[in-house]
Amino acid sequence: MKSALGLTLLGSAYALSEQKVVDIPQQPLLSDACPSNSILHNGECQPSTFDPSSGLPNNFKSNSTLSLDESRASAEKVANFPWTFWPECYSNENTTEPVCVFSSQSFANGRGVFIVSTSSLAYQMLKKPAFSQPNALERINNHANPPFVQHDFPGKGRGLIANKTLHRGDQIFASTPLVITNPVSYQLVETERLRLAHRGVDTLPQDSQTLFWALLDHFKGDPVDDRINTNAFEIEIDGEGQYAVLPEIAMLNHDCRPNAAYFWDEETLSHYVHATQTIYPGEEITITYINNERSRAKRMANLKRNWGFDCSCSSCSAHPVLTAESDDRIAQIADLATALDDWTSASSATPEMAEAMISLYQQERLYASLGLAYKHAAEVYSSFGDKYNAIKYARLSAEHGYLDKGWRDRDVMEMRNMAKNPETTWSWKKRVGHKRLAGEHGCGHRH
Ligand SMILES: *[C@@H]1O[C@H](CO)[C@@H](O)[C@H](O)[C@H]1NC(C)=O
Ligand SMILES: *[C@@H]1O[C@H](CO)[C@@H](O)[C@H](O)[C@H]1NC(C)=O
Ligand SMILES: *[C@@H]1O[C@H](CO)[C@@H](O)[C@H](O)[C@H]1NC(C)=O
Repeated sequence: MKSALGLTLLGSAYALSEQKVVDIPQQPLLSDACPSNSILHNGECQPSTFDPSSGLPNNFKSNSTLSLDESRASAEKVANFPWTFWPECYSNENTTEPVCVFSSQSFANGRGVFIVSTSSLAYQMLKKPAFSQPNALERINNHANPPFVQHDFPGKGRGLIANKTLHRGDQIFASTPLVITNPVSYQLVETERLRLAHRGVDTLPQDSQTLFWALLDHFKGDPVDDRINTNAFEIEIDGEGQYAVLPEIAMLNHDCRPNAAYFWDEETLSHYVHATQTIYPGEEITITYINNERSRAKRMANLKRNWGFDCSCSSCSAHPVLTAESDDRIAQIADLATALDDWTSASSATPEMAEAMISLYQQERLYASLGLAYKHAAEVYSSFGDKYNAIKYARLSAEHGYLDKGWRDRDVMEMRNMAKNPETTWSWKKRVGHKRLAGEHGCGHRH
């Protein structure tokens, strides 16, 4: 699965937005709906008579003899059992805990999910607001009346075309995964790992099964495994790398200069996609599959190797004179970042460098990464004690960061704090007394 791995969510997507993110009404996501000794059942907190910690890690014994109906009946016999089916598990000399398939048909208002993992990791997930808080998923999986239509592009496959004007910050969609699998499943022998995956698909609600089978596959090997491999995203839950299958996101095509960005929110176990600039009806909605702050040759090689296609977007296919200019700008962005990241007393960083960097991102149409350039600007202004420029750029950085890194990202939170109170941040007046001479910053030199 790793080789065919989908978009790496961690640090690969960048986003931008011109519309205020605060306009988007947000549900409070973090408050726990249920006390820790109770679980959410039929929309209400009920005391949990099932104590997952009692018998971990061997609570679920391998039991491949149960039919679906029998495993549903077994699950129903245990009061407040959090899964719809009794988990099926396998273990061997290489596993430290049995690896099971945990399936909930009520998850996300009936969309359902199956999790192939150890029971300790699966039960950790149950504590997330996605499972425990009734309102956490209110804005998720609302796929009725979407702002786009599906379209078949000759030679490129299907994609999404906007059918109304989208502004920066507009939610395109947000979804929960149908499948979450942990890499520990690869410790199982192949037949058992595949059996858990098939079992998982069979336990999904009917509509979700239909979505799963409609996923693209490469017609290689096992049909369930192939669909998971072709469509999986790398996600992180409590520091654990896992793979998730999100059917909606799989419909978005790549562009090196995308107009939308996505992030994974581990509290709601949801994947959000937002417009990062104005998208007019008739335009394709695109995201990036790779890190775009790299030379054209590296981007193209990466897309070919991991995704099997030749990059044809404008920043790959432009005249060589223009793509060389673009590569130069990308290299200069990297040089400026190095200079601005130098916090020693020998640092030559100046606000002018950050302003140049912001301009380079805009020239490159790398709007998705602008949050990072604005962060550099906020910090360098703060370091010279320029309060209101620090506030201005911290606000811009946070606003862009939300769409690209999510509501809870540490950098975004840092920028929010700076926007309120630059004097209390670590960078405040750090460089006061340093030379600050425009034109003497020596950026642009290659290291
Ligand atoms: C496992 O299956 C057997 C019969 O096939 C059944 O008696 C037993 O209760 C099952 N175990 C669980 C935990 O459901
Ligand atoms: C856009 O297309 C979707 C179908 O994909 C449809 O449900 C929606 O009503 C359309 N919106 C507009 C504004 O036409
Ligand atoms: C356990 O790991 C070893 C070494 O990778 C491998 O040879 C063996 O086949 C594995 N056992 C199982 C049951 O997969």
